[in-house]
Amino acid sequence: MKFFVDTADIADIKDLASTGMLDGVTTNPSLIAKSGRNFIEVVSEICTIVEGPVSAEVTALDHATMLKEGHKLAQLAPNIAVKVPLTWDGLKTCKVLSDEGIMVNVTLCFSANQALLAAKAGATFISPFIGRLDDINLDGLELIEEIRTIYDNYGFDTEILAASIRTANHVKDVALIGADVATVPPAVLRGLIAHPLTDKGLEQFLADWQKTGQKIL
Ligand code: E4P
Repeated sequence: MKFFVDTADIADIKDLASTGMLDGVTTNPSLIAKSGRNFIEVVSEICTIVEGPVSAEVTALDHATMLKEGHKLAQLAPNIAVKVPLTWDGLKTCKVLSDEGIMVNVTLCFSANQALLAAKAGATFISPFIGRLDDINLDGLELIEEIRTIYDNYGFDTEILAASIRTANHVKDVALIGADVATVPPAVLRGLIAHPLTDKGLEQFLADWQKTGQKIL
């Protein structure tokens, strides 16, 4: 499963990219607002840090303007994935852009039927928001399972990009289901490594090593 980081924070992106684990980045208008940076500038900078797909979201609601925005964003860098909302205008825009060879991430997916439409529109990625479903007592993981089954039934190559991830368990669960990508907030991504027995074991090994009085270098 690929890891994208869900942020527009340059320091976090650089730090996580240095681990070699980062396969891409997703942004959205809220994350851009949080960064306090100019949208075009910050997205262009992110594209120089990571080689993988960088999602940049259109903000128009009508197809014609969305398409113009999509073309502008796609010209920023070859690794831009234009993010469009799951509306009919968004899907029309997705179809045109994907026919032109531009990567498209269809976002704000909350149902399997929406995901089916996005795949038929040629989406590169579908972004089901699992945390926001869990927030209203629905089952985000069940949605990922349904989409996996539907895409496998028909051989769609749209990648399932599990989004709105809130916990390390979400990451494990979507990996078990077979999501292609998880986009994860920086803190949750860093937390994946945590285990108290790793810390305790390392402490013990170092204490015993010091007793030997040896050095490797
Ligand atoms: C995905 O692309 C979105 O940016 C993101 O995962 C939304 O997550 P949230 O529900 O935590 O805002």
